[in-house]
Amino acid sequence: MSKQRRPLIAGNWKMNGLAGSAAPELQELVKRAGEHSDPACDILICPPATLIDKMAGLAKGSAVKIGGQDCHANESGAHTGDISAEMLKDTGADYCIVGHSERRADHGESNAVVKAKAEAALRAGLTAIVCVGETLAEREGDKTLDVISDQVRNSLPEGATAGNTVIAYEPVWAIGTGKTPTPEDVAVVHAHIRKELGSLMGDSEAVRVLYGGSVKGSNAAELMAVENVDGALVGGASLKASDFWPIVETSI
Ligand code: 13P
Repeated sequence: MSKQRRPLIAGNWKMNGLAGSAAPELQELVKRAGEHSDPACDILICPPATLIDKMAGLAKGSAVKIGGQDCHANESGAHTGDISAEMLKDTGADYCIVGHSERRADHGESNAVVKAKAEAALRAGLTAIVCVGETLAEREGDKTLDVISDQVRNSLPEGATAGNTVIAYEPVWAIGTGKTPTPEDVAVVHAHIRKELGSLMGDSEAVRVLYGGSVKGSNAAELMAVENVDGALVGGASLKASDFWPIVETSI
């Protein structure tokens, strides 16, 4: 992990959590974070949109930030069921994940759509977390770096800076499977992403690139120690504070 990049340990709750069960977990996280007067990493939870207001209220004044999991590209309009980046900001979010592989797959989101959503997040004053990652077939077909290049080049928002944009590398085959790439494989992809960002943005040294996919307490230290890995995007192991905290502890 680079000294020049402050790690970000982020939890993506996906479609999990009701107010009654989620609040104690968030409160426990806030309590543990509060025991560190000067945390060395940023801590983020992205609950379902229904809980952002409540979780942001519980996290207020703490080191724990709250984010959305997706946003519409437009600010407002006739888009039944969608939520704009401005609405997320309004309800207490500071970040928004865009282009998660589950949205790319389940909702057919193209790189162009992801880019528009990332630009909406920036427009609203949110930090965009842009997800990229190859499928198992792409990895086995030796296409990983080509796929990553294509996604980074075509999903990166106009106006991206180290301050407003984070990249999350999440191999699709590692999500929710208990499988992770080797640290060597992670290092290759992260170095490649940083190189791509360099050619797109000029100076990419300060941009944070997270790893996601089956991160848990038992493997987090090894993954966070990989060069160019600046934090984690955690699914299942972020739902309970007792599972998430050991991952935060690798960087705090
Ligand atoms: P898991 O940590 O459950 O594998 O999920 C990773 C992920 O998709 C985070 O966005």
